[in-house]
Amino acid sequence: MSTLNQLIVGDCLQILATLENSSVDAVITDPPYFLDKLDSDWDADRVRHMTFGQVIKHLPAGMKLDPEQGRRLYEWYLQVSQQIMRVLKPGGFFFSFSSPRLYHRLTCAVEDAGFLIRDTFLWVYLQNQPKAMSLNHFIMRMPIDPEAKEALKKRLEGWRTPQIKSCYEPIVVAQKSYERTLLDNFIKHGVGLFNTNLRIGINYYPSNILIVDGVEELMDKYFLLDKPSAEEKGDYNHHQTVKPVPLCEYLILLSTQEGATVLDPFVGSGTTAVAAKRLNRNYIGIDINPEYIHIAERRLAEVQASDGRNSSLPSRQPTLLLDD
Ligand SMILES: C[S@@+](CC[C@H](N)C(=O)[O-])C[C@H]1O[C@@H](n2cnc3c(N)ncnc32)[C@H](O)[C@@H]1O
Repeated sequence: MSTLNQLIVGDCLQILATLENSSVDAVITDPPYFLDKLDSDWDADRVRHMTFGQVIKHLPAGMKLDPEQGRRLYEWYLQVSQQIMRVLKPGGFFFSFSSPRLYHRLTCAVEDAGFLIRDTFLWVYLQNQPKAMSLNHFIMRMPIDPEAKEALKKRLEGWRTPQIKSCYEPIVVAQKSYERTLLDNFIKHGVGLFNTNLRIGINYYPSNILIVDGVEELMDKYFLLDKPSAEEKGDYNHHQTVKPVPLCEYLILLSTQEGATVLDPFVGSGTTAVAAKRLNRNYIGIDINPEYIHIAERRLAEVQASDGRNSSLPSRQPTLLLDD
């Protein structure tokens, strides 16, 4: 059975193993970040019940720090990246979202699977929940007299656990080795070069900074993609980490031609597949959770393919443009 334009429920390692060698033009994916036990089986329930020594006890999800997370991410993502290496065409690009904290482990796994690390793009945003916590409730439980407690609280006013408000996500840009030269490879396989006709706003060249919130006039003129609309996500879409469609469109337009096949092995609520369909590319999406696949199917059913020139929301400027 062809997997083209299909969403498949399953563990990506098993499903990837069934895809043909050198059959995919680009991989764009947003894997589990291995923070808070949101790892390869995405078990949010397990996070809530974690109490033993490798995490800070009694903290809600989002604040746990497990020193083994990075190592586990590396070992697992190495296997995922090896499969991606196999299914990508020579010279094909692999874009992987990551977290500022475990980016280094993820990138090493991608590189050790044999990819050339070409760049790191930054998805910059303004809104995020700071994860740091005050230490007051620990102070209150210290065996010291109330005056000393108050003095310590005063001394630590504003000092919190070392977690900053995170305002960007790195996207690793990796490339499978190409055959002979980049030119030979592009002529034969249709991948391996970047489409520099792609513009954001008044920027004369595609760049490695992408934003979807207005930041500041000058930044916006160069780097601001269309803001995702409320409808774009779907009011039925309860996935926790939906990515903006314009961002995926940017990566697709940069690295593939019409008719190409874009794979997302962690497709979640289907953002990459939606972007691919809008731009007349084929998609293959995999997710372990059938509930998310249903959401993705519903989103895809609502998509009209465009001609790939004006992506997401042409009504709003600046927008993604492709020159002739
Ligand atoms: C960060 S989310 C992707 C969100 C997606 N970009 C979107 O916009 O909706 C990661 C996804 O990986 C899935 N996942 C976790 N472990 C997996 C595995 N072993 N195989 C396939 N999918 C997995 C989760 O169910 C989750 O939907």
